[in-house]
Amino acid sequence: MRAASISLLASLALSGLATASKHGKANCAVDETIVAHTGTPVGKVEVHDNVTMYISKPDKDRKKPDAAVLYLTDVFGIELDQNKLLADSFARAGYLTIAPDLFNGDPALQDINIPGFNTTAFIARHGPEVTDAPIAATILYLRNVLGIKRIGVTGYCFGGRYSFRFVAEGGGADVAFAAHPSLLDNTEILAIKAPAAIAAAQTDSMMLPARRAEIETLLPTTGQPYQVNLYSGTSHGFGVRVNVSVPAQKFGKEGAFLQAVRWFDNFL
Ligand SMILES: *[C@@H]1O[C@H](CO)[C@@H](O)[C@H](O)[C@H]1NC(C)=O
Ligand SMILES: *[C@@H]1O[C@H](CO)[C@@H](O)[C@H](O)[C@H]1NC(C)=O
Ligand SMILES: *[C@@H]1O[C@H](CO)[C@@H](O)[C@H](O)[C@H]1NC(C)=O
Repeated sequence: MRAASISLLASLALSGLATASKHGKANCAVDETIVAHTGTPVGKVEVHDNVTMYISKPDKDRKKPDAAVLYLTDVFGIELDQNKLLADSFARAGYLTIAPDLFNGDPALQDINIPGFNTTAFIARHGPEVTDAPIAATILYLRNVLGIKRIGVTGYCFGGRYSFRFVAEGGGADVAFAAHPSLLDNTEILAIKAPAAIAAAQTDSMMLPARRAEIETLLPTTGQPYQVNLYSGTSHGFGVRVNVSVPAQKFGKEGAFLQAVRWFDNFL
């Protein structure tokens, strides 16, 4: 027993050394074939029930055959390759993943936290009264056509708010994850009826430290399991768009992804 654990430690130390020679320091390597930062998206765009969806399927066995991930994009929508690649990453993690077009072909050309972007106008065109519908339709498609029984919803920036909305009573999703959600309001937090986790950026004008602290005081009052992780050296958008040459950003994006996968593995 003891000898076995010593030899395990020795082999961990050796693999640490091997890693150290390649990356400069020992790390618990993330399988880059699962978290893709670049490359060509492997999923397909299809229209179902009048909603354009980016669909990415696991090529091997599904982790949980009757569970799926509903991916809600940032303001750049399913047109952005990084959104498709991240949806592919969830598929490689073992989940059928569908990202609906939340903007009816009208995504933003700039992020909503960039000064000069008319957030008011964009939000006015894309409030819940128009954005809920394609999400609800995708949930019905997953359940009624594909026979999915459990849905984990992962949302980024704009989409993060909707992760919370769709685990409210009757929302139709079973577990929520949101990276740097914008415009998430208190009633949406208090209404959750399922586990919800957040990945937060160090620098985020849409979720300043004081707002994050408020969210952290609201979540426990929901009675639901929750998790809030703060990633240093990151800014708003890091769950999807980072400069992979900057180690803290790459680490943060991979961390947020693995946080979501682990959350779904545990609660779906
Ligand atoms: C399909 O969606 C488009 C855009 O949202 C809408 O204009 C159209 O009326 C919809 N058609 C049907 C049959 O629901
Ligand atoms: C932003 O859009 C709103 C609503 O359409 C409009 O009233 C406002 O003038 C716009 N602001 C700027 C700076 O263009
Ligand atoms: C990404 O980061 C590297 C290293 O700091 C920098 O040289 C490069 O200009 C950055 N790229 C972009 C697009 O910001």
